[in-house]
Amino acid sequence: MSSAASRPYKVLFVCLGNICRSPAAEGVMRAMAAGMPVEIDSAGTAGYHIGELPDARMRSHAAKRGYPLTHRARQFDAADFERFDLILAMDASNMRNLKALDRKNAYGGKMKMMTDYCTTMSVTEVPDPYYGGPEGFEHVIDILEDACRGLLKEISTR
Ligand code: 4NP
Repeated sequence: MSSAASRPYKVLFVCLGNICRSPAAEGVMRAMAAGMPVEIDSAGTAGYHIGELPDARMRSHAAKRGYPLTHRARQFDAADFERFDLILAMDASNMRNLKALDRKNAYGGKMKMMTDYCTTMSVTEVPDPYYGGPEGFEHVIDILEDACRGLLKEISTR
C-alpha cells in the first residue's frame, strides 16, 4: 500500500488572524469530508488572536449553514510546513507571508490558493470580511463551500 493511501491527507487552511476565514474553511471542510481519511486544521500568520474562538459574526453566519466553528486560534508555525500535505492561503497577502516563512523555498509545492479549488465562482482570493458587513461573511462562506467541494473532489481522486 502506498504511504498516500495508508495515512490521512492533512490540509491546513491559513488566513491572517485565524478567527474568520480559515476557521470557517476548516468548519466547512470538516462537514464535507466527514468519514474521509482527511485531517483538517487552520492557522493564522499573525498572532493577534491566539486562543480565541472564531469571530462571533463568522460563527453566527457559519452556524446558520450548519457549520459549528469551535477552533481556537493559533499562529502558523514553520513546523506546519512538514506536518501538512497541503497548505491553502485565503488571499495573496497570506501567501506572501507563508512564502516569507519558507526560508529555503522548500515547500512551494504544498502551498496553493484556496480559490484554486473553486469550480463555479470566478474569484482569486477569499476576501477579509473583518472590517465589513454581514454580506462579506456570507460571501466568504459561498467561496469556501465552492472551494471545499472542489478540494474534496480532488482529494477523493488522488
Ligand atoms: P481572518 O480575519 O484573517 O480571516 O481571521 C481577520 C481577523 C482579524 C484581523 C484581521 C483579519 N485583525 O486585524 O485583528
